[in-house]
Amino acid sequence: MSTLELIGSSAKFRTVLDRINMIAPVDSAVLIQGETGTGKEVIAQAIHEAGRRRQNSFVAVNCAAIPSGLLESELFGHERGAFTGAVAQTTGRFQTADRGTLFLDEIGDLPLELQPKLLRVLQEMQIERLGSGRAIQLDVRIIAATNQDLWRMVQERKFRADLYFRLNVFPIMLPSLRERRGDIALLAEHFVQKFARRQGKVIDRIPDDVIEILKCHDWPGNIRELQNVIERAVIMSNGPSLELKLSEVQVRSSELAPARTLLDAERAHIITVLREMNWIVGGRHGAAAQLGVPRTTLIAMMRRHGISREALGFAGGDSDLIAVPKPSHNSYAPRGIEGQDGIYHQSQSCLEATR
Ligand SMILES: Nc1ncnc2c1ncn2[C@@H]1O[C@H](COP(=O)(O)OP(=O)(O)OP(=O)(O)O)[C@@H](O)[C@H]1O
Ligand SMILES: [Mg+2]
Repeated sequence: MSTLELIGSSAKFRTVLDRINMIAPVDSAVLIQGETGTGKEVIAQAIHEAGRRRQNSFVAVNCAAIPSGLLESELFGHERGAFTGAVAQTTGRFQTADRGTLFLDEIGDLPLELQPKLLRVLQEMQIERLGSGRAIQLDVRIIAATNQDLWRMVQERKFRADLYFRLNVFPIMLPSLRERRGDIALLAEHFVQKFARRQGKVIDRIPDDVIEILKCHDWPGNIRELQNVIERAVIMSNGPSLELKLSEVQVRSSELAPARTLLDAERAHIITVLREMNWIVGGRHGAAAQLGVPRTTLIAMMRRHGISREALGFAGGDSDLIAVPKPSHNSYAPRGIEGQDGIYHQSQSCLEATR
């Protein structure tokens, strides 16, 4: 019985579920691609658990986490004395996964020199432990994952085309969380219950405006980031209703979200310089001088971008901070109003963009 709970009901996520159901009963190689935190590993596990191999092992290898010199022996095993320091025979991950599934995570980080060997093993389904001339026949299902653009790596000759085609028999592209905003409320509720249970709390309500903040954030860290934000919010909540500080979401938005438009880049740069200047706007050591614009221009830009120290969740200080009124509503401004207690209280709708 599966212990996995895959949360989501958006059309994009249902397409992923359909593809899992399609591929689980057959043994073809699967390549899962998606940004960090989109659930590549849980989807790989779901494929394993939905197929006939579910009684056997699901073995994960993170190709980026193992030093390249050790990866070959980690994958295929070695005999005693195969190399200096090989004091005992070891079984590689391939063999451990026999009759089960081997999950090759971060496959884009597989060193080029190891790629032909992996290809041969995948084609013949035979391994040889390092230092042994004996071939061992295996029955392993391969699922690979990466957050890199593997096809581009092929074009840049950083990844072998033959291995790419061998792994990419059945591709699954995981949508980012901002492409499936319709699932955010469901995921948030799931995580609230999970962490409340763990922390011995009862939280049975997520205010609508909190849901709206969550839906409006871009989530560069995807589901993992949402999970972390909710875990923190559950810790901070004292009553039956989830309390979420606007700054918990926004600081991360401005710091982590990759700038996609010129306006995003402008906003991010202004925030960086303001922080460097300790939020001093005017004067010789102020942000306006650093940015090469008149003080009044910077204030107008801050107003336009909805930038103020409070809105970004920085604690007050004794610097010459110019208070900039929050904008009424535009596409790049913080959407919502933070009360004096720092808790989000109300917001304007951005739901049109979230469905
Ligand atoms: N559909 C989902 N429902 C519930 N939880 C999910 C879902 N997808 C992912 N998660 C949770 O989000 C977190 C990140 O998932 P996972 O580790 O699979 O992402 P990833 O794509 O492998 O990330 P990375 O690229 O950083 O390795 C995990 O805690 C996982 O349990
Ligand atoms: Mg992962």
